[in-house]
Amino acid sequence: MKLWGGRFTKEENHAVNDFNSSISFDQRFYRQDIRGSIAHVTMLAKQQILSDEDKDVIIAGLNQILSDLESGTLTIDPESEDIHSFIEATLTERIGEPGKRLHTGRSRNDQVALDMKLYIRDEIDELDQLCHELLTTILSIMENNLETYMPGFTHLQKAQPVTVAHHFGAYFEMFTRDRSRLSDIRRRMNLCPLGAGALAGTTYPLDRTLSASLLDFDGPTLNSMDSVADRDYLIELLSALSTIMMHLSRFSEEIIIWNSNEYGFIELDDAYSTGSSIMPQKKNPDIAELVRGKTGRVYGALMSMLTTMKGIPLAYNKDMQEDKEMTFDAIDTVKACLSLFNGMISTMTFRKNVMEKSAMNGFTNATDAADYLVGKGVAFRDAHRIVGELVLYCLPKGIGLLDMTLEEYKSISPVFEEDIYEAISLKTCVEKRMTIGAPGPDAMKSVIETYKASL
Ligand code: ARG
Repeated sequence: MKLWGGRFTKEENHAVNDFNSSISFDQRFYRQDIRGSIAHVTMLAKQQILSDEDKDVIIAGLNQILSDLESGTLTIDPESEDIHSFIEATLTERIGEPGKRLHTGRSRNDQVALDMKLYIRDEIDELDQLCHELLTTILSIMENNLETYMPGFTHLQKAQPVTVAHHFGAYFEMFTRDRSRLSDIRRRMNLCPLGAGALAGTTYPLDRTLSASLLDFDGPTLNSMDSVADRDYLIELLSALSTIMMHLSRFSEEIIIWNSNEYGFIELDDAYSTGSSIMPQKKNPDIAELVRGKTGRVYGALMSMLTTMKGIPLAYNKDMQEDKEMTFDAIDTVKACLSLFNGMISTMTFRKNVMEKSAMNGFTNATDAADYLVGKGVAFRDAHRIVGELVLYCLPKGIGLLDMTLEEYKSISPVFEEDIYEAISLKTCVEKRMTIGAPGPDAMKSVIETYKASL
């Protein structure tokens, strides 16, 4: 049954019906639609626009529809135009006359704007929870690896030694910012569009502040045209989701590299790896690769949404129905990625000896050797050149700075003494970096306390 049949004389063409319909994807917010309608009739009765008897019958009918949908006794009719039509038609079928009064002082334009906001708010809460769980995993990896040495890289070339705690701390920062972006968006979007009508409000004496508070909004929106035309918060959300995926994707890329035969820094749990149909020896990091790959579709949703909105005159236009599928897909994708990624890193093991050995070679202590000379009064530029000569000396021999004899050191600069070995040991290189934000275990410990408090 159509909500708008009165003005029409012909039945709609089938292909047109299908093209126009959104029931296949907007059925996922039936709970939000019912919740919004209950708040709406509660407010209508309070304002004496609807009788208390009608209100009670409508609310009982809506609650029954909700429980029948949940239990599967009622199934959604795929021929309905959208979830709003389906629920209203079912209600009227069941309770008769009062069902027809539900839509008083409301349009599907403010209704869909409301449903989408209610749905997104719930999803933001779930996304936040998943980020929180990931941060908890990262934090526990940090606590267990304060002295697990590994090389830090720039240009994917070994640079200076760090620890696993320090490396993972970088991701703790990223996902913390992601959470704060989600909470900014939730706060900014949390104004209720209900009562905006089609675009120009209504002539009924609605109490929009009451509707807003019944639905846990901070207040009503203040411009009825913007209320039904605004999808900014979806663009913001898709941007925040894209950033989460960008972080997950970089992290995945590192896991893939670390898991390679050449690096061997980590070993993924069997449950989070897959094999090859032809090569029996393979154990592939498919989960990390899929997370990296799925980043593309989330970026795509952001681009689609920006493009869909860019040419729409005020107020509602049907283009805006296109906001749903891509947003839902992006949310589902990010939720799955956060959860699987979390499972993957919480079960993987670090091959600490391999990481430490890798941190020892590749001259990661060269900067510290230069700093050692500075400590003995050599100017930094001269120290830099001297250590460069040491590296040049070591390279063809296939040795590291710690393998050189004191005589060899002295032949390049007489400033070197026996204490050079202690000064450029891996332990010293890391432990001496103790300013806030650096990898030294004492510095890390105090940062970890701050992180714990933030969770
Ligand atoms: N299915 C529509 C949407 O998702 C609901 C709003 C329809 N409003 C209208 N005037 N046709 O946007």
